Amino acid sequence: MPQVFNWPGRLRDMADFVGFDQADLDLVQSTADVVLENADWLTATVYDNFLENPETRKFFVNQKGEVDETRLDRRKHTLARWLRGSIGFQLDQDYPIRALATGIVHSHPPSHRAHLGSIPARFMIGTMSFIQTAMSNLLKDEMDDPVEAMRASIAWNKLLMLQLDVMLAGYMVETPTEPTEVPEHLRHLMAD
Ligand code: HEM
Repeated sequence: MPQVFNWPGRLRDMADFVGFDQADLDLVQSTADVVLENADWLTATVYDNFLENPETRKFFVNQKGEVDETRLDRRKHTLARWLRGSIGFQLDQDYPIRALATGIVHSHPPSHRAHLGSIPARFMIGTMSFIQTAMSNLLKDEMDDPVEAMRASIAWNKLLMLQLDVMLAGYMVETPTEPTEVPEHLRHLMAD
């Protein structure tokens, strides 16, 4: 009988390990308004950072090297949705599976960007680090009580690392490739 991997159990164990508890979840949820009011800023700063680095920029440009604004906009919305989902974090069946699926989308390129290979795992880690910093600065600047802001920031840091752990589990195998031209028969898939 094949074993079904217990992702919620693993997430719960890791939450225990990093010391993420209900009080942390309450702290994260108490920041919902301030985070969601600033979701556009947060996603924009993450994407500005992507576009500044050639290694990450290449995932958001077309064949001519120009930023694909439509796709970029869609990705920003996706990140904002993920942020909302993070606030609604639950140790249920669905949450870790969604995080795992998000990891797999990054590690296993769909056909329209197969030529670019995986999004390197180091940029997933780097992006979480970048988001942690942006989140801390946001809470520090926008919350009235600096001690509460620091406590909320600590809780967010733990939550983001728990997510990263599951997302990276979707990185069992990377698919590295050198940058190449998109093959003719796949070009129509580039403009979605
Ligand atoms: C903390 C790190 C990250 C988070 C939380 C995140 C979140 C997401 C989510 C939720 C999706 C939608 C997945 C789906 O369609 O089911 C997505 C898609 C995508 N992300 Fe990320 N992302 C992260 C890092 C990155 C990095 C570093 C890059 C590239 C430099 C990137 C590029 C993309 C691309 C290209 C897609 C579209 C996937 C496709 O081609 O269909 N992401 N991301």
